[in-house]
Amino acid sequence: MQKSDSSNNEFILSCENCSKDFEVNENFIDFIGSQTMPYSGTWEKIIRSLYAKVYTPATNFMFLLCGGVNNAKKEVLEHLEIKDNQKILETGIGAGENIYLLNKKANNLEFHGNDIQNQMLVHSIKNLKKWNIKANLYKSDALYLPFKDESFDVVFHLGSINLFPDKKRAIDEMIRVAKPGTKIVIADESQKAAKLLNFFTGSNGDVDPPVSLIPKEMTDLDFKIIWRGYGYLIQFRKPIKPIKKAKNKLYKSYTNSLHLI
Ligand SMILES: C[S@@+](CC[C@H](N)C(=O)[O-])C[C@H]1O[C@@H](n2cnc3c(N)ncnc32)[C@H](O)[C@@H]1O
Repeated sequence: MQKSDSSNNEFILSCENCSKDFEVNENFIDFIGSQTMPYSGTWEKIIRSLYAKVYTPATNFMFLLCGGVNNAKKEVLEHLEIKDNQKILETGIGAGENIYLLNKKANNLEFHGNDIQNQMLVHSIKNLKKWNIKANLYKSDALYLPFKDESFDVVFHLGSINLFPDKKRAIDEMIRVAKPGTKIVIADESQKAAKLLNFFTGSNGDVDPPVSLIPKEMTDLDFKIIWRGYGYLIQFRKPIKPIKKAKNKLYKSYTNSLHLI
């Protein structure tokens, strides 16, 4: 990637491999422009954009059933292995609330987070300023992470994988960017929560926790029900030994061209 100046606080990252330009404003790098989440219909799109506007109070309310939002997040975050000076990636960072909870866990942590929705990144930026925490934010799709292989010491996702159009790809991307030996944690709502949420969001899908999509090379695979039955958690470890890469590298050109760190 090469940097070139633009106006005000913005600059452009130019990819030498694919000749694409990416806008960088003072807050986040935009890899996808106007692309956003896929919706099952107009109703779901309306509800979800309203939800993004009232995200924090709405989430706080929903998590009352699970013992409060902070307890629910901690129930996931306590499974991460965090040490001083590590690089941490959260895919689908939302309003950045997990970063706040993780910040005191060790010294000199370097936070990175992506999200597909502008609105959520704007929330995150405001929150991080308020909390005086530095994080590197990217508007990008969790299915196409703009990072080099083996970049992060901690990789996790909380709260959206059920809706991803290709869960396997999202998991493979988390594994790709994790350093060997890294523990990866994924959590989302269970079928019990989906039944409730579907009523409000207009979605109609059943939840199928993606345990079977974890590659067999991963070690220490564990699945558990959390949040008083309203959530599930999957954790596993990327092995230290190199993993054989699949022959069919469908997304090779994308991941080769957009490596940022
Ligand atoms: C329920 S929120 C959870 C936010 C945060 N992880 C937390 O626990 O507070 C899910 C987030 O995932 C984001 N998201 C959904 N699909 C995404 C995708 N394909 N790539 C990146 N982010 C995505 C949404 O925009 C939303 O901010």
